[in-house]
Amino acid sequence: MDFDLTEEQLLVQQTAREFAEKVLAPGVIERDDKMIYPTEQIKELGELGFMGMMVPEKWGGAGLDAVSYCLAIEEISKVEAATGVVMSINNSLVCQLMMDWATDDQKKRYLRKLASGEWLGAFSLSEPQAGSDASNLLTFAERKNDHYVINGTKNWVSNGIHSNIVIVFAMTEKGVGYKGVSTFIVEKRRKGISTGKKENKLGIRASDTCEIYFDNCEIPVENRLGREGDGFKIALKALDGGRIGIASQALGIAQAALEASVRYAKERKQFGKSISQFGAIREKIATMATEISAARLLTYHAAYRKDKKQPYSKESAMAKYFASKTAMSASTECVQIFGGYGYMQEYGVERLMRDAKITQIYEGTSEIQKLVIARSLLEE
Ligand code: CAA
Repeated sequence: MDFDLTEEQLLVQQTAREFAEKVLAPGVIERDDKMIYPTEQIKELGELGFMGMMVPEKWGGAGLDAVSYCLAIEEISKVEAATGVVMSINNSLVCQLMMDWATDDQKKRYLRKLASGEWLGAFSLSEPQAGSDASNLLTFAERKNDHYVINGTKNWVSNGIHSNIVIVFAMTEKGVGYKGVSTFIVEKRRKGISTGKKENKLGIRASDTCEIYFDNCEIPVENRLGREGDGFKIALKALDGGRIGIASQALGIAQAALEASVRYAKERKQFGKSISQFGAIREKIATMATEISAARLLTYHAAYRKDKKQPYSKESAMAKYFASKTAMSASTECVQIFGGYGYMQEYGVERLMRDAKITQIYEGTSEIQKLVIARSLLEE
């Protein structure tokens, strides 16, 4: 067992860290406050090869492994979790999904642009009545000769507004449950697709989330990914990888909380001494550091298994469940250590607490992660 990162992985980590500190840190509070999407920053991430990290160079990506991907998402999210999710969705739920399912023609038309950061992708599975029960879709794609006509409403689509293409899951057959779900690449410039307002969220406010409406949106048959009926498996396989990205995002938030807590605890004096000398504060910091290390090991382990082409569904669920729980507890304790200052926007730690919450919800709630873990132990 080797716990050391390779030279290449260390370089990715350092590059992401420097980028986050120099390019993302300035303006992060303002972007969160005013819900300003980090357009220029995402463009620069594309130039660094961070938007298609696991895609081979042949298809416009950086040809890196999943562990490198974790390192980069963690560093970016440590400074701005909203940028972390934009990056994670494009990498996992769009580029990796295409690597797994797209034909060479589809890769030529879309993957190169997405992996190089020229284009941005979104992943649209959820609907108002289909959250955790993800195959309960009403959006329907009706085949008419050489094209499909899509009608329906999607919600909570991250990257929905700024994306050029959307991976859309829709029913192609009624009454057969998840076996009726199919997957399509829909270009945003097509007629019949429109987006709702940018949602006003608790956290990751700089990222965009919206509803998407399909009103007789025609797309060619060549834009279907996989076969009719493969859609639900395509979604769940992509989410297995996506959950590693969200675990890494949660790690970044938790690590930021730990570093801020250590820094502040050493500076702040009460009762004539540094608060870092009080047992209550030490206990919080020790718990945070231990849980973060455990979450990091779970996350890298899931990524390692993905790289080795071993099954990793249970491991990514464990990583996401535990890392998101850790992000929530570490950020809450961080605000507690900062006391009244922590509750103020300008200290930058209340944002960590707000950002952490979504990591327990999207790409499968913590309850769904536990369902996946328990099933793998009890039903196989
Ligand atoms: N990979 C591939 N196939 C899988 C799979 C996986 N990880 N897990 C299950 N499957 C297959 C099963 O084998 C089964 O196929 P067969 O019958 O041929 O064997 C089929 O999929 C259906 O599986 P289940 O019966 O287990 O399906 P289910 O209805 O019980 O649902 C679930 C399982 C785990 C609850 C699933 O619905 C789930 O993960 N729900 C959460 C949805 C989710 O994560 N949504 C996130 C929205 S996207 C988002 O958040 C993006 C964003 O913008 C940030």
